[in-house]
Amino acid sequence: MNNVIKLLNSHRSIRKFTDRSVEQTLINSCVQAGQAAATSSFIQACTVIQVNDEKKRADLSEWAGNQIYVKEAPTFLVFCADMNRHKISCDMHEAEMLSGFTEQFITATVDCALFAQNVAIAAESEGLGIVYIGGLRNKIDLVTESLALPDLVYPVFGMCLGYPDQNPEVKPRLPLDVVLKHDSYDSQTDADLIKDYDQDVQAYYRSRTGGQKEMTWSEQISGMLQKEARPHMLDFLKSRGFLKK
Ligand SMILES: Cc1cc2nc3c(=O)[nH]c(=O)nc-3n(C[C@H](O)[C@H](O)[C@H](O)COP(=O)(O)O)c2cc1C
Repeated sequence: MNNVIKLLNSHRSIRKFTDRSVEQTLINSCVQAGQAAATSSFIQACTVIQVNDEKKRADLSEWAGNQIYVKEAPTFLVFCADMNRHKISCDMHEAEMLSGFTEQFITATVDCALFAQNVAIAAESEGLGIVYIGGLRNKIDLVTESLALPDLVYPVFGMCLGYPDQNPEVKPRLPLDVVLKHDSYDSQTDADLIKDYDQDVQAYYRSRTGGQKEMTWSEQISGMLQKEARPHMLDFLKSRGFLKK
């Protein structure tokens, strides 16, 4: 296994950081590595907001559901799917931009995720730890206002970065046969494989929490999917110019 694959397989989210700050030059290199990701039709539809302001960080931490590491991490980045620069480009050419297509929402969001994952890998390759923060979408309207995001820009997620002050185990992933299919979608063995995997996840949680948490993966997922998932998102995205057609 080469070193890049080893690095990828050693990922685990970090939620506790040392006080050591991250050099701006390192943050810049990580963000440039993010820019190097493939981008749908060259749209380059991701903008990163680095939030240093203490008050804003405290607000974001609270809005994300009191996730303390949002406030305490040395570095916090917000990844935004951004079609505003495309509007600027159309205006430069006196072209009417046809916006609001679901396809544009998908491409901008995918661009943003690919960009962010490159940032994450670059950061981890330099000994930093990261955790994504989807919790920002709990109060996406307040986040948008705080960061002064224009129409056609929305915050997809945040990311805490810093030097790890914890060393959690790598979380086991689904068996390869569940996620890699050949030629057609065959899910016949999925339930059995998920049952086996449930044992691995249960053992992982037992070890990570000293026996406090024993949940299996399918229990966790079935619990989560009985709850509504941020039902405000559709109206919010429409109000910002996305998902209109
Ligand atoms: C888009 C996205 C949003 C996430 N949001 C949060 C979050 O708000 N808070 C958190 O503690 N972890 C968050 N995570 C981290 C996941 O919980 C974590 O990646 C998953 O449980 C797998 O664990 P691992 O990263 O340690 O392998 C998020 C991950 C992704 C990809």
